[in-house]
Amino acid sequence: MQTLASREDARPIAIPQAEPQPDAAFLRLRGLTKRYESGFIAVDNLDLDLPKGKLLGLLGPSGCGKTTTLRMIAGLASVTDGEILIGGDDVARRAPHKRDIGLVFQSYALFPHMTVAENIAFGLDMRGVSRQEARARVEEALEMVRLPGYGSRKPKEMSGGQQQRVALARALVIRPRILLLDEPLSNLDAKLRDDMRIEIREIQKRLSITTVFVTHDQVEALTMCDVVGVMAGGRLAQLGTPSEIYEKPASLFVAEFVGRANVIDCEIVGRDQARIGDQVYRSDTKGLSGGKAKAAIRPHRISLTPDRDRALVSNATNSARGRIARITYIGDIVQYEVEINGAMLKVEVPTASAGHGFGADDMLLCEWKPQDMLVFGS
Ligand SMILES: Nc1ncnc2c1ncn2[C@@H]1O[C@H](COP(=O)(O)OP(=O)(O)O)[C@@H](O)[C@H]1O
Ligand SMILES: [Mg+2]
Repeated sequence: MQTLASREDARPIAIPQAEPQPDAAFLRLRGLTKRYESGFIAVDNLDLDLPKGKLLGLLGPSGCGKTTTLRMIAGLASVTDGEILIGGDDVARRAPHKRDIGLVFQSYALFPHMTVAENIAFGLDMRGVSRQEARARVEEALEMVRLPGYGSRKPKEMSGGQQQRVALARALVIRPRILLLDEPLSNLDAKLRDDMRIEIREIQKRLSITTVFVTHDQVEALTMCDVVGVMAGGRLAQLGTPSEIYEKPASLFVAEFVGRANVIDCEIVGRDQARIGDQVYRSDTKGLSGGKAKAAIRPHRISLTPDRDRALVSNATNSARGRIARITYIGDIVQYEVEINGAMLKVEVPTASAGHGFGADDMLLCEWKPQDMLVFGS
């Protein structure tokens, strides 16, 4: 039998593969702006590129302009300024039905008096597809969303999850170039939402359809999407992969909105050096070397060590001595609030790990890595 080493030796010299080229953007927003008649600017000069076949999540708090952006792409809201390019064509001033866009709303918006098949075929009638072809395409769309044979039902005879799948079939039946989903899961209960997340993602991948998915739910954005655009006040706060958004938030807003974080007043006292109370910690100050700032540390990136084991704490990490002020049991995790010099830290420990056996007023050490302490100048 070959050993690993000899197999390694026998391997032919690898020819370096060309780096895969990032696909050219298929959906392009350029300076997209919406000013409502009230004068309110809901979307403010948005620039964004989405490669073909990718799923973009637009994530942000209520009122930040997500739906307005989607409605402008779909043609349901007029564009005040800017361009919407799909495969190179500017569709910003084109009628909605000439944009080849499939749209799914939060409320399924099915016609209650029509059967499921009639609901799905509605867009095809409008596009002049023959009866016979429409029948075949409706059945194909129902199979895509795993509802074969349901065509003769009325929407009210179906569950919420099934109705949302019908809405998805109705959007897909026109074979759109772009699929837009506006909080499609928020009317479903938690368990169904988990299943639908996976199902939507699978359909999107299978069809390789370029998709924009609007949500205020960070879990949906992080778990489903290839790229996440975090929006705040009509602007793009950050665009990146889920891990970039979570691990390298561009601002305190993103750090707090995506995932949880302790936000602590601190002072930058040198490059990558931040002081809380009277102690200086190694951190990521993003090039700043002075000034008042805020540090963000995620609660589960802090570990706890009993005070008596202080000698075991590594020099490579930050450590702060503290006292447990409060303990909250949340089932899969225990949350400790630990008072350190100059701040109160929330620390989350999985109940499955050994470290959850502390009691109120226990003294201990909080430890975290420098790269897990993100410092934002203020
Ligand atoms: N027709 C309208 N006229 C004036 N303001 C509007 C209109 N529609 C939405 N807005 C405002 O624009 C902002 C963005 O709304 P919207 O795009 O629906 O946000 P989101 O989908 O992110 O919750 C909100 O402040 C909202 O009140
Ligand atoms: Mg909305």
